[in-house]
Amino acid sequence: MAFYAISVPYRYHIISLGAMGKLIVGNWKMNKGDEAGLQLAKNLIDLKGNVVICPPYTILREVAHLLRDASLKVGAQDCSSHEEGSYTGEVSASMVKSSGCSYVILGHSEVRTHRKETSQMVQKKAALALEAGLIPLICVGETRQDYEAGKTFEVLKSQLDLSIPETTQEIIIAYEPVWAIGTGLVPSLEYIEKTHGFIRQMTGDKYPVLYGGSVTSKNAQAILSIPEVSGVLVGGASLQAEEFIKIINA
Ligand code: PGA
Repeated sequence: MAFYAISVPYRYHIISLGAMGKLIVGNWKMNKGDEAGLQLAKNLIDLKGNVVICPPYTILREVAHLLRDASLKVGAQDCSSHEEGSYTGEVSASMVKSSGCSYVILGHSEVRTHRKETSQMVQKKAALALEAGLIPLICVGETRQDYEAGKTFEVLKSQLDLSIPETTQEIIIAYEPVWAIGTGLVPSLEYIEKTHGFIRQMTGDKYPVLYGGSVTSKNAQAILSIPEVSGVLVGGASLQAEEFIKIINA
């Protein structure tokens, strides 16, 4: 597993762009859906820059209200592929929008895996999100099995082809190798540069491309220094204000 290690030497000499202008997104997943989440949002309220937090549905409206004058934006972690109707347990894109969100994460590997979401569903959700006035943040990424079989580009191409709707509106792509999510394993900077370059090429360089998967305050600066990387999508490390702020300041 040595080839996954973060300690791969940084072999090129790109002048650090810092995090200025880069987008930092916090995905809280199924954590802090109560008072703890409101407290976390309060601790982030004065942050400047291009930052989005994605709390659970239960506190979206409250967090959005709390941050109404802040530069921080709010996003949801998913939305339905249907507009409205008899879809028990689902939340539509327009509901997400009306709760005060500007963004919605779609196609996260945890949703693709646990809820059998297909790229076609991601595309439908993204189209509805755009219609509702949300910016979809579409996640793609290969599994460890794909990676080891040398199928990364093949998988990315298929996910990009099928998940992105026909549009001229703003979309953000997040490249998240599934094997790097929540594992502490991070691809080499060279690998991140290569995959991001590939995604940009495949999408005509029209969309910002974020990196996600075990981003912490320790590796954020190196990852954000890669010119092909437009920002980061942070899971675990976005749950502590201090750690998340360090990443934003990276
Ligand atoms: P992680 O999660 O930062 O905890 O690896 C990233 C994500 O799932 O978006």
